Amino acid sequence: MQVRTDRSRSARRPRTLAAMTTTKPAGRLGDAEYVGDVALFGDAGLLDDAALLLELEPEVHRLYDRHAGMAQEWFPHDFIPYRLGRDFDKEPWTPDQPRLTGIAQTSFEIGLLTEDNLPSYHRLIHGMFGKGDGAWLNWVGRWTAEEGRHAIVLRDYLTVTRNIDPVSLERGRMTQLQQGYDHPSPGLLRGLAYVTFQELATRISHRNTGRYSEDPVADRIMVRIATDENLHMVFYRDVLSAALKLDPSAAVRAIVDEVLAFEMPGAGIPGFVRKAAQIAKAGIYDLRVHRDEVLLPILRHWKLFELAGLDAAAEDARRRLAAYLEKLDEQVLRFEERLARSTVPRIAAAK
Ligand SMILES: [Fe+2]
Ligand SMILES: [Fe+2]
Repeated sequence: MQVRTDRSRSARRPRTLAAMTTTKPAGRLGDAEYVGDVALFGDAGLLDDAALLLELEPEVHRLYDRHAGMAQEWFPHDFIPYRLGRDFDKEPWTPDQPRLTGIAQTSFEIGLLTEDNLPSYHRLIHGMFGKGDGAWLNWVGRWTAEEGRHAIVLRDYLTVTRNIDPVSLERGRMTQLQQGYDHPSPGLLRGLAYVTFQELATRISHRNTGRYSEDPVADRIMVRIATDENLHMVFYRDVLSAALKLDPSAAVRAIVDEVLAFEMPGAGIPGFVRKAAQIAKAGIYDLRVHRDEVLLPILRHWKLFELAGLDAAAEDARRRLAAYLEKLDEQVLRFEERLARSTVPRIAAAK
């Protein structure tokens, strides 16, 4: 695939951090010290977001090409059992029709409504990356197009199989989209940390939803979507790896801030807290999954606790992260003790 590059902007882009920081000081504007045309912020970080976007662009270009080479084309219609379809005007939906019930059904509903909110996510992603050079914009477009397939395949599956009331599903979508979604992301680094954790969290919750359904058709769909989410996670994770080399202290602080504040994007869905609690009891996405399968593998990949040469604020952030993870471990154990009294069927162990 051809990658757009805004050559006029690329030509102006300083090639390395060293090149930028050795440019002669040009004075002070507002709160930021300026070196050449690059703002150097004291506590906020070595580079502002505009400079970070420029500096990271070559790596984003490389990671975009890697993604395009790895992502396989797929078509939602190939995954839908259309032979089961019947007209709703002749045979309206009734509650006895779904084969999926209980938490399996709830988890599909939450998964689809979350994917439905793509316009909000696109707005946020474009807000973060849209001022970047060609490769950033290519990624925004590619990512959005790939994400769009997820709601398509999930809605087609649930409608054709009558596994969810299509009227309540549509009303849920209307409520969710009119409300929109905002993530209080105060900058590029924190935003990159959020999408990395969120893509992995979504990959795991989709994958486990498929397994929990014990429906081979649903499972195949969820394996397919989870494969996309994994590639998205790997892209964002590796962009942030590059940022960690560029400005380690600012990146560490952003990662810690995001871990401490992390919330799944479905938090605005009506009844989300109650539904998320059921999904946790079923083991589709619970605190242990969040800690052991989302947070820790990514933090390990970034070698967050091994990085040297951090500033005092980043060291302090790392201490807060360690304390948080310890507390989370205690919460996991308490949750699992309470589970002993739960009657909710848990997900079967992965084969
Ligand atoms: Fe998705
Ligand atoms: Fe994704």
